[in-house]
Amino acid sequence: MEDKVFELDGVSRSFGALKAVDNLTLSLGRGEVTGFLGTNGAGKTTTIKMLIGLIRPTSGMVRLFGGDPTVASTRARIGYMPEIAYYYPYLNVRELLSFYGGVCGMDKQTVKARTDELLEEVELVEAAKRPLKTYSKGMLQRAGIAQALLNDPDLLVLDEPFTGLDPLARIHFRNLLKKLRSKGKSIFFSSHELGETELLCDNVAIMKKGQCIYHGPVDRLAGDGGGNLERLFLDVLEKGGVA
Ligand SMILES: Nc1ncnc2c1ncn2[C@@H]1O[C@H](COP(=O)(O)OP(=O)(O)OP(=O)(O)O)[C@@H](O)[C@H]1O
Ligand SMILES: [Mg+2]
Repeated sequence: MEDKVFELDGVSRSFGALKAVDNLTLSLGRGEVTGFLGTNGAGKTTTIKMLIGLIRPTSGMVRLFGGDPTVASTRARIGYMPEIAYYYPYLNVRELLSFYGGVCGMDKQTVKARTDELLEEVELVEAAKRPLKTYSKGMLQRAGIAQALLNDPDLLVLDEPFTGLDPLARIHFRNLLKKLRSKGKSIFFSSHELGETELLCDNVAIMKKGQCIYHGPVDRLAGDGGGNLERLFLDVLEKGGVA
């Protein structure tokens, strides 16, 4: 069994003259929960897309479960929630999940059982028959969570999963992630929500201008209880790193 679920080794990605990700080396251990932080445009989404094989790095190496992230059998082990999801507007959430189940190669019986379970979990049972085009932002986010969890993935990769959730949904989702963590799932999520990140994560990686300027435990600057992550975040951004 691999001890790393993913490894990025000296990975860079340019868009024309812009270096969105610059020589990034980062990995996630099995069962680890890491929050991926940084300013807008720091390269988080670009990194996430490379690590799951949606886009290729300009240089450097990406390994997902020890292999190539573009291989379908490797991808079948991950659950991915994009920053902005473009769903077919006329599908309802059951049809959406059924479509993704097919893409993941799951049998219909399993998809049906998982769909019932997940719609309860994200509280979309009542709205299950409505087309997705009628969903609010938070409802779409919940549909995205259900989609990412459908195949019971070993690794969850979530790009800003807390965005748009109301406070109750946020607490519920936090508890869901904690439950998954206790089951030994590996979780990597980007966020601007430092409070949520502090509550959930073993480690954080902080990006600035395409580079990782801090990767380590949240409680590194611990001393007087909560709010450490905000201090750590501001500190590393200001200094460009922690000594
Ligand atoms: N397809 C693209 N073409 C051109 N530039 C891009 C493309 N995708 C990303 N970029 C640029 O790469 C940089 C990193 O973008 P990215 O989306 O990875 O940032 P981010 O850290 O996810 O930001 P945010 O917190 O706002 O989501 C930005 O300057 C962005 O404009
Ligand atoms: Mg982003």
